[in-house]
Amino acid sequence: MTPGAGRWLLRVDWSDETRDLAWAEALALGARPGPAPGLVWADAGAPDGAAFLLGAGEVVAAGPPGGPVAPMVEEARVVQVPRGPWKARGSPLDLLATLGWRTRYEPSSRAPRPDRPAFVLYPTAAGWWLVRATGAPRWVEPALVHRTSTSLPSRLARAVVNLVARPGDRVLDPVCGTGVLLVEAARRGCRATGGDTSPKAAWRARANLRALGLEATAEVRDALTRDDGPYDAVVGDLPYGLRLAHHDLAPFARALPRLGRRWALVAHLDLSADLSRHGRAPRLVVRVPKSTFCRYVHVGEEPTA
Ligand SMILES: C[S@@+](CC[C@H](N)C(=O)[O-])C[C@H]1O[C@@H](n2cnc3c(N)ncnc32)[C@H](O)[C@@H]1O
Repeated sequence: MTPGAGRWLLRVDWSDETRDLAWAEALALGARPGPAPGLVWADAGAPDGAAFLLGAGEVVAAGPPGGPVAPMVEEARVVQVPRGPWKARGSPLDLLATLGWRTRYEPSSRAPRPDRPAFVLYPTAAGWWLVRATGAPRWVEPALVHRTSTSLPSRLARAVVNLVARPGDRVLDPVCGTGVLLVEAARRGCRATGGDTSPKAAWRARANLRALGLEATAEVRDALTRDDGPYDAVVGDLPYGLRLAHHDLAPFARALPRLGRRWALVAHLDLSADLSRHGRAPRLVVRVPKSTFCRYVHVGEEPTA
């Protein structure tokens, strides 16, 4: 039951909208499935740059369902109990009593507050896991100066980048719009290049990058005729929305191998059948059921020669 030294238990986002994306992101960043859905293990602290991790930390006590647990810290004053299926596994109060600490528990579905001692109890089918959380939330929302109704939420954009790109990679968003994906790629330390056929969009993307002091380019350029690839990764929020005519995708699918080796493409529809028909079958499609409108993230790579 006691985890090995250096293993961290991380809780990925449990919100219905982003859970699947956060899970895919955590695995892409090197985490492994943990003792229960929504929990992952990582060897060396939280996977770098993960946007959606709510609670993350070192395991300090573990025990079978219902307790007792083996404490590995001397004292915990406040223990947060995340929303979860703990009722089926006994009361967290009973468990905390077995620790013999001066504890009070605080039901919470939110990230640990950095101003408090943060111990989080994770109830799973395999047992209780008491985790000393890292505290400060990892995500910092960028202060963009331009957004439009089609701009991706920045946290979603960060996850899309993390699915296919690593710091130092050359990353292309050939349909960059206001540049939300470019901003996240640059914030991750990628060398980001953007293009859009709309001069206004390219100008907005440059203004966003400049406002944040990020070095990345955004030019007026047609994705279908680019010849500066292949980049390490292509990210894009495709201009094929609800009014998508499926055949519109064909030229883009044909251009994809020239654009990048790995790709993560966002669309309002599940385009996997269309991408497959054009020889670009995604290896993963993640649904993000936003309340306003649903999005699908298609992830794939070109076969190595
Ligand atoms: C869904 S929007 C991208 C939104 C973007 N993620 C953002 O944060 O603003 C799609 C963009 O693709 C651009 N576009 C459409 N066809 C294009 C093409 N052939 N080459 C380059 N850009 C194109 C549109 O001008 C539009 O800005």
